[in-house]
Amino acid sequence: MRRGEGDPAIAVVVGVLCVASAVVVVGGAKGGELATQLLNGFTATHAAGAAAAFEPVLYATDGVFAFGFLRVGSASLDLAVVHLPSSFPLWRATPARLGDWSRPATLTFDSSLVLTDQDDGVLWQTLNTIGDTVVLLNSSNLVVRRYAKPLPAWQSFDHPSDTLVLDQNFTVSSPPLISSSRRFAFRLGKTYMALHMEFYGGRTTPMYWQHTALETQPQNATEPPVYGRLDARGFFGLYLEGGGQKVDVLSFDTFVQNLTGVFRRMTLDDDGNLRAYYWTDGAKDWILDYKAIAGRCELPTSCGAYGLCVPGDAQCQCLDSSTGTSPPCHAEETADLCAANGQQLDFEVVRRKRVTVAYKEDLPSETNMTAEECEVACAGNCSCWGAVYNGGSGYCYLIDFPVETLVYEADDRKLGYFKVRKLPSPKRTRMSPGVTAATAVLSLILVGLAAAGVRSGYRLWERRRRKRAGMEQELVPGPYKDLKTMGSSNNSFKQGMNQ
Ligand SMILES: *[C@@H]1O[C@H](CO)[C@@H](O)[C@H](O)[C@H]1NC(C)=O
Ligand SMILES: *[C@@H]1O[C@H](CO)[C@@H](O)[C@H](O)[C@H]1NC(C)=O
Ligand SMILES: *[C@@H]1O[C@H](CO)[C@@H](O)[C@H](O)[C@H]1NC(C)=O
Ligand SMILES: *[C@@H]1O[C@H](CO)[C@@H](O)[C@H](O)[C@H]1NC(C)=O
Ligand SMILES: *[C@@H]1O[C@H](CO)[C@@H](O)[C@H](O)[C@H]1NC(C)=O
Ligand SMILES: *[C@@H]1O[C@H](CO)[C@@H](O)[C@H](O)[C@H]1NC(C)=O
Repeated sequence: MRRGEGDPAIAVVVGVLCVASAVVVVGGAKGGELATQLLNGFTATHAAGAAAAFEPVLYATDGVFAFGFLRVGSASLDLAVVHLPSSFPLWRATPARLGDWSRPATLTFDSSLVLTDQDDGVLWQTLNTIGDTVVLLNSSNLVVRRYAKPLPAWQSFDHPSDTLVLDQNFTVSSPPLISSSRRFAFRLGKTYMALHMEFYGGRTTPMYWQHTALETQPQNATEPPVYGRLDARGFFGLYLEGGGQKVDVLSFDTFVQNLTGVFRRMTLDDDGNLRAYYWTDGAKDWILDYKAIAGRCELPTSCGAYGLCVPGDAQCQCLDSSTGTSPPCHAEETADLCAANGQQLDFEVVRRKRVTVAYKEDLPSETNMTAEECEVACAGNCSCWGAVYNGGSGYCYLIDFPVETLVYEADDRKLGYFKVRKLPSPKRTRMSPGVTAATAVLSLILVGLAAAGVRSGYRLWERRRRKRAGMEQELVPGPYKDLKTMGSSNNSFKQGMNQ
């Protein structure tokens, strides 16, 4: 696994950083020196606006992982442990406030690791740690150690960001994995693991996927909680704390192949799916080995807020055709409809037939309801954003978080009621006749351009569709025709309520 002479990944990083004393080094490629241990008194400085997107300060002895300053997005700064062959950040410090790449920043080790911004002070630190050395293990675990103590004073494995790696324990007391978009979380309960959406800064966290450990007994209060760990043999195992008895496995595609000796990670990706990947020596990219959610339409935000996902080719539409026909249909909501005086803020109502929610089993529901009762249950409650009713079963599901992507289902008894925040209407300003004429001309040009865009967009879509139809036998064009008519069709959902 040792990186060879002239490896480009190493060649780029050597000499980028000015690293001060207090490091233990080993010989690196091209005569450079790679730090493998940081001692008390260590300081490294990030130069404002550095060209490289990653500036390592510490390497694992196998040379596959490094810890250092990482540029995030176009201009933010974070600390990260990076898998060098793929440049993938396996761990990030993710402070509440990220640094600014265009300004100098300093990383010091004095008993604890501290990241400081020149102007803003401390951005991040390992709290309550007393350590003598910092090392990056071959597992990618960043560890702060006391010489005399076998257990680490602090380790990055206890503070995951969006990724778990081989042999990293994910426990009930671990912080959740948070996707880098910060919109999704992966949490462990006492006997299950679950994926959640994060709304209102994490105050509302509806679940959209859950897996209960097969051999646990939720009613048994004395049973110890489970913890999860990615196994080199190609599965994510759930074990009982204490004894370590295995109570369930999520097996990956490679499990049956007995593919060992590859590096594996499990990441909560930005689309809200939990996926496992592996990397083989000399590979060009990570290879997908597992995903928690199979279809795009089952992902909770695949078509954005107020979007409608049509299974088959996972095409996106908008719930309310008046706001457009393709995403983004609506801005994401950041607060509920509750006013300070206990009243509800103004909203408009969108009703749509043939809609359902992919994760309705995880929503609060009531049975034996009529469509009217289902609407009323949501309409008067300022924390409710929508209701989905199944006329076949009488089930009413309440969406007590901002409306995200719904799923099309060709069943007239599946009804949806959705609230849309009414924005304060802007004051009309009178325009001079000259401006009005210019606006009219400009509008005509824009309409013309839009029509041209729609035509070429349609041609492109049609080409793709034909191509796909050639590959997939079961593609039926029926539902799309239905969709065009469903907006105008009458439905039994009560009209005009609460408008
Ligand atoms: C880490 O990997 C390197 C190279 O494969 C090896 O020499 C070293 O012993 C390993 N360290 C540990 C602690 O396993
Ligand atoms: C993970 O948990 C197991 C069993 O409790 C323990 O032996 C191991 O040291 C833990 N690993 C880490 C990196 O903490
Ligand atoms: C509860 O769990 C404990 C520990 O796993 C086990 O010893 C005990 O038999 C269980 N009790 C019941 C009622 O299942
Ligand atoms: C899997 O591979 C390991 C070593 O690579 C080997 O020892 C083991 O026997 C294999 N197991 C099976 C079922 O093929
Ligand atoms: C369902 O509602 C009807 C009328 O409201 C009532 O007569 C019936 O007992 C209810 N059934 C159940 C199972 O609650
Ligand atoms: C409003 O809905 C929330 C979430 O479903 C629920 O907890 C709350 O009790 C409801 N409030 C009223 C007044 O019904």
